Amino acid sequence: MQVTRDRIADDLRRLGVRPGGVLMPHSSLRSLGTVDGGAAAVVDAMLDALGEQGTLVGPSFTFGSAQSPDFVFDPVRTPSDMGAIADEIRRRAGPARSLHATHSVSAIGAQADEILAAAGASAWDERSPLGTMFGLGGHFLLLGVTYQSFTAVHVLEIAFGARHRQTATLWRTLRGADGRERRFASTVYNRGPAYPGYDFNRLGQAMEDAGIVSTGPVGNAMARLVPARPMQAFAAAQIDVDPDYLFLQQSRETPLRAGAALDLPRGKLSVADPTAIFRPKQS
Ligand SMILES: CC(C)(COP(=O)(O)OP(=O)(O)OC[C@H]1O[C@@H](n2cnc3c(N)ncnc32)[C@H](O)[C@@H]1OP(=O)(O)O)[C@@H](O)C(=O)NCCC(=O)NCCS
Repeated sequence: MQVTRDRIADDLRRLGVRPGGVLMPHSSLRSLGTVDGGAAAVVDAMLDALGEQGTLVGPSFTFGSAQSPDFVFDPVRTPSDMGAIADEIRRRAGPARSLHATHSVSAIGAQADEILAAAGASAWDERSPLGTMFGLGGHFLLLGVTYQSFTAVHVLEIAFGARHRQTATLWRTLRGADGRERRFASTVYNRGPAYPGYDFNRLGQAMEDAGIVSTGPVGNAMARLVPARPMQAFAAAQIDVDPDYLFLQQSRETPLRAGAALDLPRGKLSVADPTAIFRPKQS
């Protein structure tokens, strides 16, 4: 499938992305099909749909790279580990990136400053950039990926009782714009020994059944647009009844009904047509 910037922007509008909104995507580029212009065209399309007053927030997370004690976080240069689209947002945002060794975000647009001003040592508490997505009435977009990539649910996990988590301070090196390096502290929430794993698809499928989430194709990707505030209220009600609501039951993730599931070496995708994802040409 060949997909253009205009087609992606139209599909995003059909899904419910509106001018002036605050949007945070988790994405797989290849799920969309073959995109003319690659990740740059996808980011252009997101900005087209959000308009001049909109804000795009990218997960510029580095939790894989930051495992190394020698990790140096350079906000302008350290790539996002969260895929080509997230890294394109990070590149365009330049220095507009929160300071966190594992879970920084990059932001472009009208409310970028407000979101980044919320950056403290923790990336998952309610006063973090991710936490502000709820206060600002933002939307999360899952583009070709499942709810297992939905980081904001960790904010709810912490808010409603992180009994399987252990709070710790991670010290790593920060390289400033002047090239100077210093140690800096990030709060992280390590899995405790009995952490059962999470099944965020369970919450996602229940929200879809309740009509909270808008689902539909963007190119060939199955996309899910999740409004932050209704999601927070819905999840709180479920966790109130069952404190283990977000965790795996019998080690099995809930299957999603919309879209076809693809389990690839780099991650699990959710797509309209599994045969239409991007396939590199054989050399
Ligand atoms: C890991 C993950 C990013 C992999 O998805 P992916 O589509 O394979 O990879 P990317 O999004 O980085 O896109 C790069 C791939 O797009 C494909 N591609 C290249 N050009 C393309 C084009 N013009 N059009 C479409 N696809 C293209 C290639 O397969 C490329 O992979 P390669 O560089 O290994 O050849 C995805 O599965 C995922 O988990 N995303 C969510 C990440 C996240 O935010 N997680 C939150 C915390 S858990």
